[in-house]
Amino acid sequence: MLSQQELKQQAADAALQYIIPMLTPDAVIGVGTGSTADLFIDGLAKLKGRFRAAVASSERSAKRLTDAGIVVLDLNQVQSMPVYVDGADEINAGLHMVKGGGGALTREKIVASVAKVFVCIADESKLVDTLGKFPLPIEVLPIAREAVSRIASSLGGQPLVRAGFVTDNGNQIIDVSGLRITDAVALEQTLNNVPGVVTNGLFAMRGADVALLATQNGIRRL
Ligand code: 5RP
Repeated sequence: MLSQQELKQQAADAALQYIIPMLTPDAVIGVGTGSTADLFIDGLAKLKGRFRAAVASSERSAKRLTDAGIVVLDLNQVQSMPVYVDGADEINAGLHMVKGGGGALTREKIVASVAKVFVCIADESKLVDTLGKFPLPIEVLPIAREAVSRIASSLGGQPLVRAGFVTDNGNQIIDVSGLRITDAVALEQTLNNVPGVVTNGLFAMRGADVALLATQNGIRRL
């Protein structure tokens, strides 16, 4: 029986194999945030020299990349990106995701939006029929915290401000539990329209293009 850590390692290794054909001396790779992304970064270090640089979705990943000897570029310096690799807190069969457990959702969504291909890596526990069991993170400007929380309540959720947490962008996170998300695109759009919301953790309008999910029986590709 493989541990969750071993499964995450398998998913990270599968992503490294997946991106190898995309590596060129000019390629800039988008890199996500989290424990699975960390394992991907560790493996990516062994491929340095086969691509130009990386763009990180968080200060945490930027540091790990730099420590591994990989050049990190600001997204503003990059015009195109063949691939973005990141984990997820939940993913469904339609490749819609809930992300932001690590609080990096805004930069993740921005970097992913530039990439041609979004590769989601996760262990199989992240695959769900219906999104929403994992509390949906919403990054808000601090002034909007209570107003957005009331709207989250009116949508049927239970909002909880992530205590003591400040995002890389200087904002706060509201984790909304109790949502049963049957139309992820609609909810993503609704939340995007609430004043003070910077980003919500639904990645549905632009979901993953491929998911590499590690199972006890090997990689399951969606
Ligand atoms: C961070 C994220 C992560 O991708 C998500 O939380 C999954 O993390 P992990 O790989 O540690 O399970 O969205 O903001």
